Amino acid sequence: MKLLEPVLAVLAGAYTAQAGAPLGTTVYDDAMTPMAALDEGNGNDAPASASVGTGGLVQVPDFGPNPSNTSMYIYVPAQLAAQPAIIVAIHYCTGTAQAYYAHTPYAQLADEKGFIVIYPSSPYEGTCWDVSSQAALTHNGGGDSNSIANMVTHTLAKYHGDPARVFVTGTSSGAMMTNVMAAAYPEMFAACIVYSGVPAGCFYDQAGGANAWNSSCADGQIDSTPAVWAGIVDAMRPTFSAGSSAAASAAAAAARPRMQIYHGSADAILHPPNYRETIKQWCGVFGFDANAPDETQDNMPQTSYTTSTWGGGKLIGVYAEGVGHTVPVRGDDDMVFFGL
Ligand SMILES: *[C@@H]1O[C@H](CO)[C@@H](O)[C@H](O)[C@H]1NC(C)=O
Ligand SMILES: *[C@@H]1O[C@H](CO)[C@@H](O)[C@H](O)[C@H]1NC(C)=O
Repeated sequence: MKLLEPVLAVLAGAYTAQAGAPLGTTVYDDAMTPMAALDEGNGNDAPASASVGTGGLVQVPDFGPNPSNTSMYIYVPAQLAAQPAIIVAIHYCTGTAQAYYAHTPYAQLADEKGFIVIYPSSPYEGTCWDVSSQAALTHNGGGDSNSIANMVTHTLAKYHGDPARVFVTGTSSGAMMTNVMAAAYPEMFAACIVYSGVPAGCFYDQAGGANAWNSSCADGQIDSTPAVWAGIVDAMRPTFSAGSSAAASAAAAAARPRMQIYHGSADAILHPPNYRETIKQWCGVFGFDANAPDETQDNMPQTSYTTSTWGGGKLIGVYAEGVGHTVPVRGDDDMVFFGL
């Protein structure tokens, strides 16, 4: 883990510089005792959202099988919708459930729209996610991905959630996990948003390590075909696309979650080729031509961002020119993509 520390420091610095830390945010420890405010004293940061949600972040100690000892936190708004939608929001390395709750707009949006937010918290020192072990890269394989899926199952049952409106998003390591969740649990999610991650399986560790750092992937040295990337996705949930006929595989692709991929051209942590590789991965899965989007729009959704769309919006790529690690979360746009 020693080698990882400089990387973590950079990740933390990059994230804080962009998202800022809301002052006066109450953070709770495991016993729900308020702790010191996040990054208190860092007074020149603008908050990511005007205020976080009013319902409070609560730990759920018992959500069923938890093979990797991942912590579960939940935000349930005071005005909960009937059959609420659920968003799983996954933090970056050095982050926590509490930090992602405070730095992203999802809890505030939950107050407006009545959905539930699940914030998993990594069990590892340095708080990256395990997106490298075989366990993590396998449906019900016993890694962090398995624990996160069990949080969703628990929440759907407890709050009578809408199984057709379950979503996942994350930043950096959480974005890597978002791709893994989409690959390993395609039946669970309707749509997924990836802020500055790598393709599902790209962080695979040959030595079998959990929570390992894969430099060739991070540094943008992996260049695979859409078919190879799609094979990696299929291997995580083999029965999902097992149909032998073209019609069966088209039906399986249609049933998979919609994907939106953000990446910055100046990303020096998860280098920019990871954008192209992630697009190739989902194009391979969906059967789209990565070189021929339906539409490419410059300066969309803002100046110097370019948006490419495949399959009528099944896959959207947003390449942010000049943006480093990470692309800032776009809460209102996320609501549009999720249909909330
Ligand atoms: C699980 O994580 C908690 C902290 O969230 C820690 O206190 C506990 O010791 C861990 N258990 C195991 C078996 O690692
Ligand atoms: C890093 O991941 C790639 C796949 O993205 C894999 O081929 C390579 O073996 C991995 N590196 C290590 C050291 O495991």
